[in-house]
Amino acid sequence: MKPSPHHPMKSTEGMVDYDRNSAAQQQMVNTQSGRMRELVGSLSPAGPEMTVVDYGCGPGSSAIEAVRPSIEASRAHFPELPVSVVHMDQPGNDWNALFQLVFGSFGYRGGSDDIRTAAAVGTFYSQMMPASSVDMATCFAASHWLSQTVSVKAPGSIWFADLQGEARQTVWDQAVRDWSTLLRHRATEIRKGGYLLVGTLGSVPDETEINGTAASGRGIYRAIQVVAQSMAEDGLINPDVLDRFVFALWFMTEEEARTPLEEDGQLAAAFDIEEISVTPAPGNNRDVFGAYLADPDDYAKRYRGYIRAFADSTLRKQLFEPGVSSVADVDALADTFFNRLEELYRTQTDKYAFELWHLLVILKKK
Ligand SMILES: C[S@@+](CC[C@H](N)C(=O)[O-])C[C@H]1O[C@@H](n2cnc3c(N)ncnc32)[C@H](O)[C@@H]1O
Repeated sequence: MKPSPHHPMKSTEGMVDYDRNSAAQQQMVNTQSGRMRELVGSLSPAGPEMTVVDYGCGPGSSAIEAVRPSIEASRAHFPELPVSVVHMDQPGNDWNALFQLVFGSFGYRGGSDDIRTAAAVGTFYSQMMPASSVDMATCFAASHWLSQTVSVKAPGSIWFADLQGEARQTVWDQAVRDWSTLLRHRATEIRKGGYLLVGTLGSVPDETEINGTAASGRGIYRAIQVVAQSMAEDGLINPDVLDRFVFALWFMTEEEARTPLEEDGQLAAAFDIEEISVTPAPGNNRDVFGAYLADPDDYAKRYRGYIRAFADSTLRKQLFEPGVSSVADVDALADTFFNRLEELYRTQTDKYAFELWHLLVILKKK
C-alpha cells in the first residue's frame, strides 16, 4: 500500500485512544493553567469578543483544560465580553469525541450561552484565523510534529536525536522552517497585545549524547528502534524502509526555539519574548511512569498505551504499509510491534524510561 501522491502524508493523524493515554500531555496543560489565567487577565481586549484558540487541540480532555483557564479569566476580568473558543486541529482529529466532551458534564459549555465554540480544521502551518483576531493562542504537545514526513537515509536511527551529518541537517532544516512558519502565521492572526503560549517536549544540553543534547523520550524512541530492528531482522518489515524511516518531529532546546525569534527580522518585529525555557516536567521527570515500576505488567501496559497513542498512525503509514497488500496485514504487524514493545518494557522496565522536559514559549504580539 502506497500513499497517494494527491494526499501527501501528514506527520500525525488520528491519535489512538488518546484520552486514556495522555497523562503527560494533560499534566503539561494543567501546569500552565495559572499562567494562562495571568496572561488573559493582563490583556486589554479590543472586543467585540475574547477570542481564544487552541492549536493542535487533539480529541481529549486536555483540549478542554487548555481553554478553561482563559474562559474563566476572561469572565472574571472582562465580564461584558462574550468568549469565542476555537479548537484547531487536522481533519483526522476525533472531532465528535472532542465536542461531546465540550458539551458534556466536564466541558465548559454547560448552560453557557455567552460562549461560542467553533472548530478550525487544517494545519497550523497555514493561516487558520482572520488577521488580528486572536487574543489568546495556545499550542500544547503539538508543535514538535513537522509539516510533512521526511525521508533520509539513516540506518540505525528512527528519530532526530540520533541522526548525524546530512540526515540530521535535512530534518533540522525542515524543523526550523516549520517553527518559523508556525510563528509567522500566529503573528498574522494574533492581535496587538495578545499572547501565544506554546508548550511541548524539549531537549536539554547533555555532553554524553552524540549530538550534545538529551531529548525528551529518548528511552521511548530507542525502545521503538530496538523493536523495529528486531522485526526487520525477522523479515517482518522491509529493512530498506526502516533505514529511511524517521519520525517527523523535533524537540527543540531553548536555544533552538529562541534563535529564529531573535534572528528572523519579521519574527523579531512581531513578538516580544516573555519566556522561553526548558525545564524538567513536574513529578518524576526521569520516568514519567516510574510510580508503576513495582508492577512490571502494569508499567509495560502503560508504556504500550502511551506510545501507541502517538506512534501507531506514523508506524502504520511509514513502516508497516509499504510492502504489504492488505489492511489485515498492517493490523497484524502493528499488533506484533506493540506486543514486542510491551514485552521489552516488562522485561527491561526502566532501561527505556520516558524522560520529559517541557519547552515553554510565551510571546506577546507587538
Ligand atoms: C499529542 S496531541 C496533543 C493534543 C493536545 N493539545 C494535548 O495537549 O493533549 C498532538 C496533536 O497535534 C495535532 N497536530 C499535529 N500536527 C498538526 C498540524 N500541522 N496542524 C494542526 N494540528 C496538528 C495532532 O492532530 C494531534 O491532535
